[in-house]
Amino acid sequence: MCGIIGYIGDKKATPFLIDGLRRLEYRGYDSSGIAVINGGISVHKKTGKVSELESKLPKKFEGRCGIAHTRWATHGGVTDANAHPHCSSDGKIALVHNGIIENARSLRNRLEKEGVKLRSDTDSEALVHLIHREVENGAKPLTAVRRTLKRARGTWGICVVFEGHDMIICARNGSPLVIGIGEGENWIASDTLPLQSLTQQVIRLDDGDLAIVTSDSIQTSRLDGRFTDSEVTPLDDDWGEAELGDYPHFMLKEIHEQPEALRQCLTGRLDIKDGNARLGGLGLSSKKLQKIPHVRLLGCGTALHAAQVGRLVIEELARVPALAHVSSEFRHNNPVIETDAIHFAVSQSGETADTLAAVKEIQLKGGEVRGVINVVGSTIARQCGKGCYIHSGPEQSVASTKAFSNMVAALSMFGIQIGRARSLSREKGKRLTTSLQKVPQLVDQYLSNPGPIDKVVKAVKNAKSVLFLGRGISAPVAREGALKLMEIAYIPCLAYPAGEMKHGPIALLEEGSPVIVVAPNDSLKDKTVSSIHECRARGAKIILIHEEGDSIAEEADISIPVPSTDPMFSPMLTVLPMQLIAYQTALALDCDVDRPRNLAKSVTVE
Ligand code: M6R
Repeated sequence: MCGIIGYIGDKKATPFLIDGLRRLEYRGYDSSGIAVINGGISVHKKTGKVSELESKLPKKFEGRCGIAHTRWATHGGVTDANAHPHCSSDGKIALVHNGIIENARSLRNRLEKEGVKLRSDTDSEALVHLIHREVENGAKPLTAVRRTLKRARGTWGICVVFEGHDMIICARNGSPLVIGIGEGENWIASDTLPLQSLTQQVIRLDDGDLAIVTSDSIQTSRLDGRFTDSEVTPLDDDWGEAELGDYPHFMLKEIHEQPEALRQCLTGRLDIKDGNARLGGLGLSSKKLQKIPHVRLLGCGTALHAAQVGRLVIEELARVPALAHVSSEFRHNNPVIETDAIHFAVSQSGETADTLAAVKEIQLKGGEVRGVINVVGSTIARQCGKGCYIHSGPEQSVASTKAFSNMVAALSMFGIQIGRARSLSREKGKRLTTSLQKVPQLVDQYLSNPGPIDKVVKAVKNAKSVLFLGRGISAPVAREGALKLMEIAYIPCLAYPAGEMKHGPIALLEEGSPVIVVAPNDSLKDKTVSSIHECRARGAKIILIHEEGDSIAEEADISIPVPSTDPMFSPMLTVLPMQLIAYQTALALDCDVDRPRNLAKSVTVE
């Protein structure tokens, strides 16, 4: 979603701002803009790519303080006028905003009645005019911003610059902002990615915080006016490589990073001798694990699919009821919360608004939530306080890949940990931990010989729709495969538990319809074969993802073998061909793989 970058210091601001915008592109956007102060405030904004904005900038677009923004349209269409920064009518104040101002309509109406000419359709623009009003009435910049935010309802991460003032005022409520600390220079960004190469120290603003940032000082305060001491925290230096390197797309790079990402996730957490796994950050003793009544997991999109795999592993190994919920539904269904239960919020970004809202709902009702999160220090991670990081490293492609595998790995470890605290034997624990430890190597092995993906691409790229089938632990993998192909290749896809197919979706099948079936070597395989026969009898083309050496390959029109592992861990292997099919099909259809239309990397609005 929208991205913010700000710079103030002794160097030229524009190169930092443009580079920051590029690093924020992965979040998804449709326009961008930049403002620098050099005497007056100069602003440029443009729909389309950051490169288009850059090419339109005058040669001399200089200043040592500036703010910039990538916009993902919510209020108002994709136009230059709606792009940020927005300026006061005298051009002396400029503002960028992430989030949604819920009472924007009434604020805009009032401003218009007072004679302010609004130049955009955005909710954000109201803020800059209100700040201007306050300044005209004699308020200092910080007071003007504070008073304005007190009138606003909704979420914001904002940066504001004022002509004649060497400072940036920023504020957060529901939309993250991080201040990167330098020597004689400071940065502000909506996530840590643009700061990785610039600084090792950051201040993460909390909801309700404001800050005045100059080149050599940062003063934080609260909306009620109290000044605060904000904690300086180190940037995670294990975060890994965020550049594209030799890969044409982040998605392909991230698919190939899975073996290493999985190693990072598993390292130090498996105790093979004792057949156990330990996720220390969860803060759960064996005693507590023995007593819990149930486990609930929450997520959206790919994180939801990982949660669905996780819940099956947990229920199987610990013999405790476990359920996965769509975050956006959970929150609004007035859920009954058991305070002894374990709740997990699963999220790559740690910023997904729906999941954050579900976390707050549980906490409000006295429950505890633990994060299963990738981005260190993200909002959900901090809101939960406890949890386990999945250590995937930066994931920049909108289509999530390596985060899925690591979420599944982390939840599998939890399954073993809770299982061992309850009835899982040491022997079985040893078998499972040994097999889990080998998964990264097997992923490596598959990726070096991925099978006839090109044939699958031919079969699906012009299809009216693609049906994905799987049973048991493979049902969420089928859903994940469908989501991937839909979101980056724009092909309508339907995912169904294989046994449910005959109750409806079978009507879609006609001669040549592609059906992608996930059938690892588990106890449900024979049942899946029956579903394959039902599809084949209607002329469907069967693309089968199965275990290497399994005779089930004979059932396939296109067979894609993956290395053999414990069926419980098969999703980390069977998902790989799905990711590659989506990637190669999107390429064949000339789609923008890393930045699919209408989508954002982290969805920070409900
Ligand atoms: O950051 P999160 O894991 O919370 O994001 C959840 C979904 O928005 C995300 O998985 C989305 O579905 C991806 N585009 C899937 O590839």
